[in-house]
Amino acid sequence: MSNIEILFENNRRWAKQTAEQRPQFFSELAKLQSPEYLWIGCSDSRVPANQILGLLPGEVFVHRNIANVVVHSDLNCLSVIQYAVEVLKIKHIIVCGHYDCGGISCAYHNQRFGLIDNWLRHIQDIYKKHLTRFQLPHNKSPTDLLCELNVIEQVYNVCQTTSVQDTWIKQANLEVHGWIYSLQDGLLQDLNMNIKNLEEIETTYQRALESIFKAKS
Ligand code: CO
Repeated sequence: MSNIEILFENNRRWAKQTAEQRPQFFSELAKLQSPEYLWIGCSDSRVPANQILGLLPGEVFVHRNIANVVVHSDLNCLSVIQYAVEVLKIKHIIVCGHYDCGGISCAYHNQRFGLIDNWLRHIQDIYKKHLTRFQLPHNKSPTDLLCELNVIEQVYNVCQTTSVQDTWIKQANLEVHGWIYSLQDGLLQDLNMNIKNLEEIETTYQRALESIFKAKS
């Protein structure tokens, strides 16, 4: 069997097992999706949203790109956020980065790969913005720090989008969270960047920055 045929074989087995366990599963999902969460994560094949969160199809709306970047002019990501918030009415947006992220590492080491360098320029901008903090002594490696910092900055960007701001102006419930995932043990960590209204953005952002850049004692 070829590598591609294996995928169809896997799919038939999965569909059969799922239908046996929950006979209404596919017919119910075909009618409607009502996920409570939007996941914005890295494209890295080792960080699959559903498996990590223990969620089934239909339970998490997913957007992934290299190094989980939320750019103010990226129509793809902005459309996902708008649809998730305004149409699906999801209650939580999770920006999840991960340690040992190839995109972050390339940006930090200034490696050249072509077109992707332009995308990773956003990460380099973040690094430059906080350069003085990186120059202080830390318990963490600079790339681990940059992985964490990137999540905090991207949560901040999510909070600046018109969809999220309009939701909060309307006093509707919506929380934005910043997490990081470890490939070493499969565990998620909260980066204390949880925001649920406009007023909290700046103070929570500053506190989250201080907490990741805590100087070596
Ligand atoms: Co990555």
